Amino acid sequence: MLENLIKKRNAKVGIIGLGYVGLPLAIEIAERGFEVIGVDIHKERVSDINKGHSFINDVTSPVLKKFVKKKKIWATTDYDKLKACDVLLICVPTPINVNKEPDLTAVIESTSAIKKILRKGQLIILKSTTYPETTEKMVLPILSKSGLQVGKDFYLAFCPERIDPGNKTYGVANTPVVVGGITEKCTQLAELFYKQFVKRVYPVSSAKAAEMTKLLENTFRNVNIALVNEFAQLCERMGGIDIWEVIEAAKTKPFGFMPFYPGPGVGGHCIPIDPYYLSWKAREYDFHTVFIELSARINEEMPYFVVNKTIDALSNAGVCPNKANVLILGMAFKKDIADLRHSPAIKVYQIIAPRVGGVNYYDPHVPELDIDGKTIKSVPLTAQELKKYDVVLILTDHSAYDYDFIVKNALLIVDTRNAIKKKNPKVMKLGVQ
Ligand SMILES: NC(=O)c1ccc[n+]([C@@H]2O[C@H](COP(=O)([O-])OP(=O)(O)OC[C@H]3O[C@@H](n4cnc5c(N)ncnc54)[C@H](O)[C@@H]3O)[C@@H](O)[C@H]2O)c1
Repeated sequence: MLENLIKKRNAKVGIIGLGYVGLPLAIEIAERGFEVIGVDIHKERVSDINKGHSFINDVTSPVLKKFVKKKKIWATTDYDKLKACDVLLICVPTPINVNKEPDLTAVIESTSAIKKILRKGQLIILKSTTYPETTEKMVLPILSKSGLQVGKDFYLAFCPERIDPGNKTYGVANTPVVVGGITEKCTQLAELFYKQFVKRVYPVSSAKAAEMTKLLENTFRNVNIALVNEFAQLCERMGGIDIWEVIEAAKTKPFGFMPFYPGPGVGGHCIPIDPYYLSWKAREYDFHTVFIELSARINEEMPYFVVNKTIDALSNAGVCPNKANVLILGMAFKKDIADLRHSPAIKVYQIIAPRVGGVNYYDPHVPELDIDGKTIKSVPLTAQELKKYDVVLILTDHSAYDYDFIVKNALLIVDTRNAIKKKNPKVMKLGVQ
């Protein structure tokens, strides 16, 4: 029954959590003919979606509007509406608390709400990144309280999300996905469903293998960024070696090397958070994930390193740092997007602000933002404005910047992204003494 509904694309799909993961997924699924009902606790977001207003760069409002008009996508705050759905995808946030411990409140709340509407023949897929065994030992016991049996009455699987916001080459349809169910039948159904809109689906033997796969991917990235950040610091200490030149050279090796780049730290909803889910879980098994702790130590130190470098650059230029005016270029956590979550630029702002005369920022994607309860607005990037600052600190290398114009008009530049390729005595680069 469920198989046929999926194959004929008559299955109704419920998406819980309409954010960076849920909304692009809704579009791709609706594109293949399914009706999508989105549930979110954020009333404004729900109302925006129903008006066809997208808040995510990768989903344009005209495209969203097209599906809303055809009633292929509609949103609600009411979980009861999910009763009609045959497939449910949970895409809610999985943050960490101030002590860097997993906070699964949203997963527990959404699963508890699903339990109330659970019926025979539904497939539930958890998408939110989490530690191994969450699907089996946290989600399943909640759903089982309904009296229904997994693998027989309803189906449950984990399918990690790989979306890379801002990536123009890889989107939902052409990024392979991994699925792992609680039972074989659960895996088969999750695979069948995903095959309707993703080119390659890779089944694994369990939900926990799929959960661990996601954490391996993100920890791999975190560790390699930390490694290259450490190399950048060493290049600065030794002098005479440019880390960017070294990476370009290492990249020529056609096997066994993959380039990662230094920067002011790691940001976004994944890389700075997900590894902590694993290190927390590992302790339950008397296991200390040394690589995760070490890479966190190096990556979290980077904003402080960048601030010290900027203070040194000002002193060397004969400017008293505590009277200096600083302009930050780029507040988003990576280029060409507006996402500020865990952005290292915010950390740099917080660390440098009390040490200098004043700080402003310019980011074409972020007109204003709140830091420590204060709203600050992006300044315009004019020649006159640039000349007002003792140092320009490049933290995000958005494509929209005219770097020749910046170099021409700025007095001093600290470039943490190798955005300025040409050598210039007023440009100080991260990873170059
Ligand atoms: N953003 C990424 O690039 C990315 C990539 C891979 C995996 N992930 C993972 O996917 C999950 C979702 O991330 P995101 O970036 O889409 O988060 P997000 O914050 O952009 O969106 C989550 C949405 O869920 C809603 N929500 C929160 N609690 C809810 C509840 N109880 N019921 C219904 N809706 C609720 C929020 O209002 C929000 O709209 C996280 O686990 C994240 O780690 C994110």
